Formats: sequence, C-alpha cells, structure tokens
Amino acid sequence: MADFYPDLFQSLSSDAQELPMYRRLFELFRQNILSGRLSGAEKLPSSRDLSNQLGVSRNTVKTAYEQLIAEGYVQSRQGAGSFVTELPAELLQPESKPSVNSDRLPELSEKANRLLQSQSMYPPGRLLLQPAVPALSDFPRKRWKRCISAAADNEALYSHPAEGYLPLRQQVARHLSAFRGMQVSPEQILITSGSQQGSYMIASLLTGQGDSVWIETPGYPGTEGVIRAAGAEVRHLHWQMLQQAKLPERGRLLFITPSRNFPLGHTLPLSARLEVLHWAEQNNSWLVEDDYDSEFAVGSPVTALFALSKERRVIYTGTFSRTMYPGLRLGYMVLPEVLVPLFRKARRFMDGGLSVVPQVAMARFMENGDYSRHIRKLRQLYLQRRQSLEHLLAESGLKDFPVIDAGAGMHLVIKLSNDCDDQALVEPLVQQGVGGRALSHYDRSCQPARGLVLGFTQDDDVEMARGVKIVTQAIRCLNLSCN
Ligand SMILES: Cc1ncc(COP(=O)(O)O)c(C=O)c1O
Repeated sequence: MADFYPDLFQSLSSDAQELPMYRRLFELFRQNILSGRLSGAEKLPSSRDLSNQLGVSRNTVKTAYEQLIAEGYVQSRQGAGSFVTELPAELLQPESKPSVNSDRLPELSEKANRLLQSQSMYPPGRLLLQPAVPALSDFPRKRWKRCISAAADNEALYSHPAEGYLPLRQQVARHLSAFRGMQVSPEQILITSGSQQGSYMIASLLTGQGDSVWIETPGYPGTEGVIRAAGAEVRHLHWQMLQQAKLPERGRLLFITPSRNFPLGHTLPLSARLEVLHWAEQNNSWLVEDDYDSEFAVGSPVTALFALSKERRVIYTGTFSRTMYPGLRLGYMVLPEVLVPLFRKARRFMDGGLSVVPQVAMARFMENGDYSRHIRKLRQLYLQRRQSLEHLLAESGLKDFPVIDAGAGMHLVIKLSNDCDDQALVEPLVQQGVGGRALSHYDRSCQPARGLVLGFTQDDDVEMARGVKIVTQAIRCLNLSCN
C-alpha cells in the first residue's frame, strides 16, 4: 500500500489531543490545502487506504472527508473519488508567508483612535481601600437567590420589552420618588445595563457632526471613554468653573454629577444648579445628571437636578452597581417625555433590551422591601467605616495630610501636593494589595489635582488598618508631601 503524504501526518498523534480524531484529521487537511501544500485538483486517498495507513477507523476518515466537502475544501466526483478544490494562488496562505502586521490593527477611524486613547479601568480582584466597590460581603445573598430563583419561573420571561420590565420600571419610579424627590412615570424610565450604557446612548443619539460634549473634571473616566466610543468629541469643564457657573459658550451635552462630584464629593450649590439649567435652556443643550451614589451620601441628598428642570432639559442616569453589586450590570435612565420615543426605538435596534431574569429578580427585591433594607444597612455600615478610616488616618503618619471628605458615600481623598506624582503610588500599592487610585487619574485639567482616592466600604477595621499602614509607607517611601 502506498504511504500517502509521509510527513503530513506526523503531527496527528500529538496535535490538539483534546479534539476528536476526525476533527484533527480535518484540520490537518484544511491547513495543508489552504497553505497550498496539497495542490488543487490533487486526488485524496480513498477512506479505506487512509484509515489503514493511519490505524484509525474508516468512519473517522469518512467523517473528516465529509466535513472537508461540506466546507468546500474538497470536491467529490461521482465514481472518481475526492479531489482538493482548486483555489486561486493569491488566496492561498502559505506557511512561510509572514502574517503581515497581524498584531497591528488595520487603519482605524478617528473615532476608534480616540477610543483607544481612553484611560483603562481598575485591575480585577479584591483590593484593600478600593473605591467604588460596595461591601459585597454584606450583600444579602440568600434573599437575592430567592428572587433569582422565583424570577427563573416567571412567565414574563417570554417577552422582552426593549425599554425594560414594567414592574421594575414601576419600582424604580417609586424609589426615585422616595429617595430623590423625583416624580416620574415608569414610561420615562429605561432599564439599562448600567449608567455606562445610558451615557453611551445619550452621546450617540443626541450628538451630530461637530457637536461638543462637555464633561466635568475631575470625573469618572468611564464617562469620557463612553462618549468617545459613541464618536463624539470630549471637552473638559473644571468642577470649580461649574461651581461658579462659568459655563462654556455652547455645547450639545454636559455630563455632570451635581449631587456629588466624583471623586471629590462636592455638591453643586443651588445657584449653580439653576444657572446650569438656564444655560441648557438657552443653548438648546441637554444636561446629563450622573447620580451614582446618592443613596449613601452623608445626610439627606439634595433633590435631583432632574426634579428642578421645568423645561425638561435633564436626563438622569442611575445605577444598581453601587447599591447591589457591579457585576449585576443593571441601571436605569430617566428621560424627559419628549425623548422617550427616540430612546425606546433606538434600544429596540441596539440590543433589543436586557435579559429579563435579573430584571424580574430586581423588581421582586425592591417590591418586597429587601432593597431599601439593604441600602439602610449599608448606609449605617459606611458611616461607621468612614469614621474608622478617618480615625486611622488621623492616628497614622499621614495625620498632617488634609483629607477631602465632602460627604461622598463610598470614598474619601487624601490631598497631596500638586507638584508630586500621585500616579507613581498606584503600582506599589496594587502590588501590596491596596486599590487606592491617584486623584489625577480622574482629573483631565491642564494642572490636575494630586491625591489618593481611598474607598472605605469593603474593609473591616483590621483590613483597613493594614491598608492605611501600606499607604503610609508608600507615601513616605516616595517622599510625597502635602504642601
Ligand atoms: C461616577 C460614576 N458614574 C458612572 C459609573 C458607571 O456605573 P455603571 O456600573 O452603572 O455603568 C461609575 C462606576 O463606578 C461611577 O463611578
């Protein structure tokens, strides 16, 4: 019997052992046909001969041949056998041919390049003193599991309204009325996969060519990234300019955190809120109110800007990432009535709406009081943990460093001198398991403020003390000062 392709099958016993033999055989033929090693019109051995040579069953060879025929690599001719398909030489992919710039993206649009320049987000994993992550160990898992399990049985699963599950929208409307002084109908609410998705929709639907989108700085880098992803041009408005109501001449959109600047925590004074609303009305602009953690703000949070806007120029974005857990990927936006049809239609075509199970579970969790109970418990816990962190800092080698604690719900900021490199702190901290973030990471002004943003939500007293010790040593080691 002839020995077909003497060196072709050498790798067959060692390659991709986890795949079934017919698949390995198919892959081997496929690669050799595409590389031109098996030339067009070449006749393949019969399945009987090849199975004898390879010591595999005839069925295995037949199945591999059938797959090659189904995918067009081989053609079967009645009574004559199977032949390699003739492919034009320029379409072959010879092994020797280097893969041209395979690690480089083809030429990108301006929009894509702007997106690639955006800052990256947090490293994954649990870190001490990490901002923006809720106390996950205090999450009422059993109660949530009950809601998830009931949701899996719900007949609502057979429909998927793009705007979101109605009972959840009703619960969100109730929550906003109780917590944020907002009187809105469920029709104005769109359930999102988080504030990020809301911001993306706003930036992509409400901007056109040449429109500027203003964002507050310091601010959440994700907002900037998402606006870039939507293809709009980002401009930065310093929070102090906003506080003094020194507003840009014009702009299609202005993203702000009026209840608490992120991460500084300052509240926008009433006069500036009214000025901002007036600016939006005069300029035919939209304001986006990112209300990311009002549930945990110290004292009772100021009424939402949305509720102040008589002319309905405000779009409100809220999230369950901080009150529940970030991986839930659920949030909501509240729209002025006039925008509802546009956003609903866009949603239908963008992603058809969200998976229904978590929405049903979330609606139940809110309806039976678990959500508000959980928020009350976390508020209490965070107040204690905020005090613990402030106390530990006051007792540490950092006692002379000013702490900016304007009452944001989940973190505070240690102020560093404006001429020091706060970003240099981050890597040594992460290496020692501490997740503090440089203040300048959030500040896109030409003279970014320097400091260290520290979360106090997740750590008990012992963990927090360990984190503060590491932070103190790192600041000392780098010789960073506060003035
Ligand atoms: C200020 C601010 N806005 C928006 C978001 C995004 O939230 P979501 O997870 O709902 O997309 C975050 C996330 O941490 C945030 O800190």
